[in-house]
Amino acid sequence: MLSKEVAKLINEQVNQEFYSSYLYLNYSNYYKEEGLEGFGQWFYVQAKEEWDHAIQFIEYLHDNGESVILNTIQAPDNKPENFLDPLKGTVNHERLVTSLVHKIYETAHLTRDFRTMQFLDWFVKEQGEEEKTAEDLFKKFELFGSDPKSLYLLDNELGARVYTPLNNNR
Ligand code: FEO
Repeated sequence: MLSKEVAKLINEQVNQEFYSSYLYLNYSNYYKEEGLEGFGQWFYVQAKEEWDHAIQFIEYLHDNGESVILNTIQAPDNKPENFLDPLKGTVNHERLVTSLVHKIYETAHLTRDFRTMQFLDWFVKEQGEEEKTAEDLFKKFELFGSDPKSLYLLDNELGARVYTPLNNNR
């Protein structure tokens, strides 16, 4: 059984992950509408992965006899104003998500909830990777994004991203 506080934070995290999915879908739509199909595909895959994260948290609650409370998902901000906006937004958002995962981890640690800490280990590692990927993409765009030929190549590169469903990582 989880402590009330840990169960509450995990329920909130479910909502955050669904919001992440929504946010990235919004970015995906924006790029597709602007003709950058590769960027659109990259964010579409990102949105699907965030959905998977939400499901992972839901399953963890179920596995521990907890109720899942689905709340309203906040709408993302309006469409970005330029190609760089979503990349900057992704870096900031992933940093925020990392801090939320760490908060759950810290709470679990304080209550000697070793099971939850072990469950969260995968997310701690995943957040490190997601932050790095987002930062790299942001830097790449800053370096090459203003040159049409380079932008075309970058768009092709990002369009190669394929969705791989999550295995059971617990
Ligand atoms: Fe599920 Fe990108 O955090």
